[in-house]
Amino acid sequence: MVAASSLALPRAAVPCPARSRAGLRAGFLGFAPPVALPAQQLRCCASSVNDGVVSAEASKPRLPRVVGMGSKLVGCGSAIPTLSISNDNLSKIVETSDEWIAARTGIRNRRVLSGDETLRGLSVQAAQNALEMAQVKAEDVDIVILCTSTPDDLFGGACQVLTEVGCINAFGFDITAACSGFIVGLLTATHFIKGGGAQNVLVVGADALSKYVDWTDRGTCILFGDAAGAVLVQACSADEDGLLGFSVQSDGNGQKHLNAVTSNDESILSNTNGVAGFPPKKATYSCIQMNGKEVFRFAVRCVPQSIEKALEEAGLPASSIDWLLLHQANQRIIDAAASRLDIPSDKVISNLANYGNTSAASIPLALDEAVRSGKVKSGDIIAASGFGAGLTWGSAIVKWG
Ligand code: ACO
Repeated sequence: MVAASSLALPRAAVPCPARSRAGLRAGFLGFAPPVALPAQQLRCCASSVNDGVVSAEASKPRLPRVVGMGSKLVGCGSAIPTLSISNDNLSKIVETSDEWIAARTGIRNRRVLSGDETLRGLSVQAAQNALEMAQVKAEDVDIVILCTSTPDDLFGGACQVLTEVGCINAFGFDITAACSGFIVGLLTATHFIKGGGAQNVLVVGADALSKYVDWTDRGTCILFGDAAGAVLVQACSADEDGLLGFSVQSDGNGQKHLNAVTSNDESILSNTNGVAGFPPKKATYSCIQMNGKEVFRFAVRCVPQSIEKALEEAGLPASSIDWLLLHQANQRIIDAAASRLDIPSDKVISNLANYGNTSAASIPLALDEAVRSGKVKSGDIIAASGFGAGLTWGSAIVKWG
């Protein structure tokens, strides 16, 4: 297991609004009172995707937004497995070629967990790297959010991650929203900061879809890889606010186009004591099933709309975007969205050639590489967008640093 980038980028410790640890705990348990009550509203949107046709009606604003406090990104990190699988490697398993995969997706390699590597291990390393960049001690982290659809443990992985990292004062939980998971995690983190009294929230996006891929299905197995990425979101004053606008949407009608559903094994008990239908059969998950064309159409249509909604909430024009950072699913999806938003290719972050689609990890992994290479600089505005199974999709307009 290795860090996706080994270049350390120390930053000055960031001063936070004064708040004692004891006060912070009380804030969690009792929900800290808002600093001021809102004129603005958080938009929660409900939309519908039917066979690729989206009715993008945003619902009326439902929740008040707490103002007077901000949140910002102060560190990032990532980790990838050691085993690299090239398109040529795959062409020895299924009938495909490097030329076909590269032309249709932009992907050339992906990393896959092997040996005793685990998703937990990747998540821990990504989280540690983010804390190191932020110069925040593990014990000062209040919440760890693990965004994943593929935890090592069905009951969730965040608790083990936070314990291994040493976040002894933190509460942890998992979020499952497939490839939109990291955006949902960012949104959740900023709510815990702006409305719940948290100061430091670690958001980890991590997935090991290689465990749910049918490696005999050339339509899906070429796409996915494993990785973890993390950011530290920190409380700050309102005028330093770096999480500027969000839009999140979901629609179960599109679930038929992309899923890994439960299926029932045979019952492990032969004697059921005569109770019909009992005990239930043990559940397992199917491999990823996907209608690639429909998912493609959905992404190209919904992602630009979603970014426009998030920009609207941020009160910013598309011309203010320094970097477009989409979920790394397919280069053709990224290019189509950039073209619809009129964003030139030199402002588009892409690393999927090396890693494929790493689901909830793809945005923080690409962000980490872009920050550590010096591409993304403090104050840059990033439009990030995730989309995928659920169906779910969501965007965040963030200022780095
Ligand atoms: N190698 C060679 N040929 C292939 C391969 C392959 N790996 N896969 C499919 N083909 C063939 C097909 O059999 C078909 O042949 P035919 O014309 O003789 O029937 C032909 O290539 C075209 O197949 P399509 O499926 O139409 O190819 P398409 O251009 O749609 O590309 C792809 C497929 C790459 C999967 C594309 O649809 C895609 O990327 N969709 C988006 C998927 C996605 O992003 N999913 C993840 C979402 S994130 C999440 O939440 C998990």
